[in-house]
Amino acid sequence: MISSPAAPCAFGTHRVLEPAGALPQSAWRLDNTPVARANELLCAVDVLNIDSASFAQIAAQWNGDADAIAAHIRETVATRGKQHNAITGSGGMFVGRIAAIGEARADRASLAVGERIASLVSLTLTPLHLEEILAVDVATQRVRVRGSAVIFATGSFAKLPDDIDLDVALSVLDVAGAPAQVRRLTAPGQTVCVIGADGKSGVLACAQAKTRVGPAGRVVGIVPRADTPGARFVADAGYVDHLIVADARDTLAVLDAITAALPALADLVVNCVNVGGTELASILCARDEGIVYFFSMATSFTAAALGAEGVGKDVTMIVGNGYAKGHAEVALQTLRERPPLLAYFTARYGARP
Ligand SMILES: NC(=O)c1ccc[n+]([C@@H]2O[C@H](COP(=O)([O-])OP(=O)(O)OC[C@H]3O[C@@H](n4cnc5c(N)ncnc54)[C@H](OP(=O)(O)O)[C@@H]3O)[C@@H](O)[C@H]2O)c1
Repeated sequence: MISSPAAPCAFGTHRVLEPAGALPQSAWRLDNTPVARANELLCAVDVLNIDSASFAQIAAQWNGDADAIAAHIRETVATRGKQHNAITGSGGMFVGRIAAIGEARADRASLAVGERIASLVSLTLTPLHLEEILAVDVATQRVRVRGSAVIFATGSFAKLPDDIDLDVALSVLDVAGAPAQVRRLTAPGQTVCVIGADGKSGVLACAQAKTRVGPAGRVVGIVPRADTPGARFVADAGYVDHLIVADARDTLAVLDAITAALPALADLVVNCVNVGGTELASILCARDEGIVYFFSMATSFTAAALGAEGVGKDVTMIVGNGYAKGHAEVALQTLRERPPLLAYFTARYGARP
């Protein structure tokens, strides 16, 4: 694996094959040649953590068949030079080791070949070359591979921590934006409603929200079933004051349930589901002039904007930017500071014997 001397673009436009003028995320196809150009980092990839909305769509298309899911991913990467789901528009992240460091990288001195890292930018903009798909774990939405990926000069990544199991760190870093944004958007005494409270981002969002709103505030979790490990955990750990069992696509049922549970609507609603059609329920759970944070990649901007207008709801809607300053550290600290949460993630998402 070599590094070439050309002076490439910090955003990675030099890797865009089509259409001309696109940035890597919106491009249809990238050049995935496994070589580190001057400002790039080339990584040997072990694991792809497919974004939940994307994995749910692919798994549904192939009835959960691991071999068919593997073939689907192989085909996507071969066609597009990246793991970019054309239906959900989402990607995921990877874990690997640094294989080559471009000679013009500003962070060159702080990096070493062989260091284990997780990408913190989406697979939808990451040039990816797959040699082999070794296994697809449908339960954890994780794909073990042999391949190479490129991180651009502006792409963020995290060195993996020594004190947290690799698979656990991966599942947390994938959704690091959610707890970091919840921490930023909440204040003591507020009411926070987390939709999809039993998934990875949902559980982390509930844990952060509960600490931030304090004893005078309230956290409400909405889950599709009461008997999932995540639903039981957020209730038992005390991360939610109310657990509402409802299908978030059933807008009026959600509204009825939340108005029955709370004296006032939520100051902040966090949407962490992996299915579409939940925009209006999220909007209606927020108080007038409240905030709705759509972390979910299954969110339709059109449905949210026109839906809010249609029901005359004056709320601030935030698109779930996966990046927030220091988000990886906030997410990992959320686990370190809460031993039951770390134990839950380790049991649920940690390495299997
Ligand atoms: N903004 C970003 O940068 C970013 C980064 C990573 C991921 N994401 C997105 O964030 C979302 C959550 O990711 P995740 O990894 O936390 O996913 P996850 O662990 O799969 O959690 C999704 C949760 O949504 C729940 N859910 C599904 N259908 C529901 C319904 N109709 N009503 C209520 N809840 C429902 C699921 O419950 P069951 O499991 O019981 O069905 C599950 O607990 C996904 O859309 C993902 O694509 C965004």
